[in-house]
Amino acid sequence: MGSSIGVFDSGVGGLSVLHHIRQTLPHERLIYVADSAHVPYGDKTPAYIEQRSHTLTQFLLEQGASAIVIACNTATAAAVHSLREKFSLPIVGMEPAVKPAVAATKSGVVGVLATVGTLASARFAALLGKYAGEVKIITQGCPGLVEQVERGELHSMKTRRLVERYTAPLLAQGADTLILGCTHYPFLAPLIREVAGDNITLVDTGEAVARQLQRRMQTELPERISGDASAQFFTSGDAAQASRIMSVLWGEQVMAQQLPSESL
Ligand code: DGL
Repeated sequence: MGSSIGVFDSGVGGLSVLHHIRQTLPHERLIYVADSAHVPYGDKTPAYIEQRSHTLTQFLLEQGASAIVIACNTATAAAVHSLREKFSLPIVGMEPAVKPAVAATKSGVVGVLATVGTLASARFAALLGKYAGEVKIITQGCPGLVEQVERGELHSMKTRRLVERYTAPLLAQGADTLILGCTHYPFLAPLIREVAGDNITLVDTGEAVARQLQRRMQTELPERISGDASAQFFTSGDAAQASRIMSVLWGEQVMAQQLPSESL
C-alpha cells in the first residue's frame, strides 16, 4: 500500500476540494474525513475547531497520510497554525479567494460568502489587508447554508430562500464577483447562478489548493511512492446517512465508515 493524502472538513463540503485533488493527482490514494457529528464548524469556538482538527489529523496520520489538506476555510482559520507546529508533514489549508476575486471584478465590488467563524478570524482580516487594495469587499455570513448542503438539499425552496437572502445585499451594492468562501458552497453554485444571474463571477479555491498540494508533494516528498488511485471515506456521524449524501456529491457509490471511538 502506497502512502496517501488525508483530507478533512466539518462535513461533506470538502468533497468539492477532493474533486479537484482527484483531477490534479489521479494516481493518489485519498482518505476523506467528514466530521459530521460536529458540523457546522462555523458557529463553534476556534478552540473547539482546533481540537477537532488535531484529532482528525492524528487519525489521518495513523491511516498512512503523508500530506494533509484542510478542506475547510473555517478550520484553516482556527487550526492551521497549531497543526503545522505539531505535525511535521505538508499541511495545505485554504482561505477565501480574495486575490483572484480582486483581479476579476470589473465593478470594483466583491462579495464574500463564508461562515461567521471564517469572517471573524484574524486570518481573514489579514487576507483583506493584503489583497483588497482599492476594491470594496462586502462580507456576508451564511448561517444555515452548510446544513442545507449536509442534507443534500441543493435545490430546495428553503435553500433558495437562504441564497436569495444572503446574495441580495451584495448584489444591491454592486458586487459582480462572489467569493465562495466555504467549501460547501461550490455545490450550490448552480443555484447561486440562478439567483444572482449568469453575469456574476463565482470564485472558489479548490483548484488552487489542489495545485498547491501537488507542488508541495513534488518538492517536499519527492521519494514518495504514490498510492493506488483509491478513495476511502470516513465520518464521525451516521455512516449510512453520510454514504447517501457523499455518493451524490462525489458522483460514485461511497461506503462511508465510522471513525473509531477515540476520534469521535
Ligand atoms: N466547509 C467549511 C468551510 O469551508 C465549514 C463549514 C461549517 O462547518 O460551518 O468553511
